[in-house]
Amino acid sequence: MKSIILVGGKGTRLRPLTFEMPKQMLPLVGLPMLECVFASLAKHDVDEVVLSLGYLPDQFIDAYPLNSISGVKLTYAVEPEPLDTAGAIRFAAETAGIDDTFLVVNGDVLTDLDLSALVSFHHRRHAVGTIALHEVDDPSRYGVVATDSEGRVEAFVEKPAREAAPSNFINAGTYVFDPAVLDVIAPDRRVSVEREVFPLLAQQGSLFAMADNAYWIDTGTPESFLQANVDVLHGFDVGRHLEHLEGTTWRHPSSTVAPGVRTRNAVIDRDCVVGANVVLENVVLMPGAIVRDGAQVRNSLIGPRAVIGSHSVLGPTCVVGAEYVVPEHSRLAGSVKLGDI
Ligand code: GDD
Ligand code: MG
Repeated sequence: MKSIILVGGKGTRLRPLTFEMPKQMLPLVGLPMLECVFASLAKHDVDEVVLSLGYLPDQFIDAYPLNSISGVKLTYAVEPEPLDTAGAIRFAAETAGIDDTFLVVNGDVLTDLDLSALVSFHHRRHAVGTIALHEVDDPSRYGVVATDSEGRVEAFVEKPAREAAPSNFINAGTYVFDPAVLDVIAPDRRVSVEREVFPLLAQQGSLFAMADNAYWIDTGTPESFLQANVDVLHGFDVGRHLEHLEGTTWRHPSSTVAPGVRTRNAVIDRDCVVGANVVLENVVLMPGAIVRDGAQVRNSLIGPRAVIGSHSVLGPTCVVGAEYVVPEHSRLAGSVKLGDI
């Protein structure tokens, strides 16, 4: 089966990190999170992936020149301009010549969803489209779905106010589609699958949805990207053995860590330097980051080659952009974003 992975968004909530790198190429415990998405697709009957690209496409194309990840064939569809989610699906499907039932996944979601069960459900219901659902406490930052007892979608509302949400079941960003869906997507303009296509299919009665108890996280915010890293450190399976994991700290062997450093839930990627008596808790250090002596960093993302000055204290939730230098003795907390914003 063919699968389209949507990776063309600008990743605005993860700026400034996403100025330099598309969010699906940001490292999740040392490897681009896109590879984790591939690993989960490869466990099911997916033999070809079409990467739907728009923002910084060359970074994907340069990283995977062999046109294969995890043994799955890879092709690209590069949009001339952003077409939004449904426009991107139509463009990618046409570029790859898709003419059979196919999958679509949001490339920033980490999950162990049973795709094969979703595809079987789709066929049993003779659906034009089927959405995977996930239950959350606060659905307001997602697409919210109400179904009847058979799973037929009665309402799809994108990002409603919390009190207006018709259920606690959200669009988990994985879809099975019949090629007939392409006929309801206008060509050559921005079309949102969430705001236009799903409400239309729901009205026609041809859209279904299925919930399960899979692990699920959308990694598109600093807090959730950090949480996804922590979940991998705690054993969420991303299809590879995590060498160099000690307790809940993963350190690339090319990095140096001075004596007296205390870490918990920390990722220390390649070529990092961590000074004496540093504290790292719930932290991702991206390649080449430097944390100088005595600094304390908690619940924060430190971008490539950024420098945290000595004795600084960074708290929830700092996002430090590539090469940014935080002066010594800084005190930073709240939703702090440092760098080219
Ligand atoms: N090719 C392409 N072109 N891809 C795009 C475009 C575009 O114009 N716009 C967004 N994308 C990609 C993003 O890169 C991402 O992988 C995916 O589409 C979803 O976009 P996000 O920006 O991450 O959307 P969201 O997280 O706010 O909401 C979406 O995901 C939620 C679940 O994670 C919606 O689908 C919600 O309904 C859903 O609940
Ligand atoms: Mg998202």
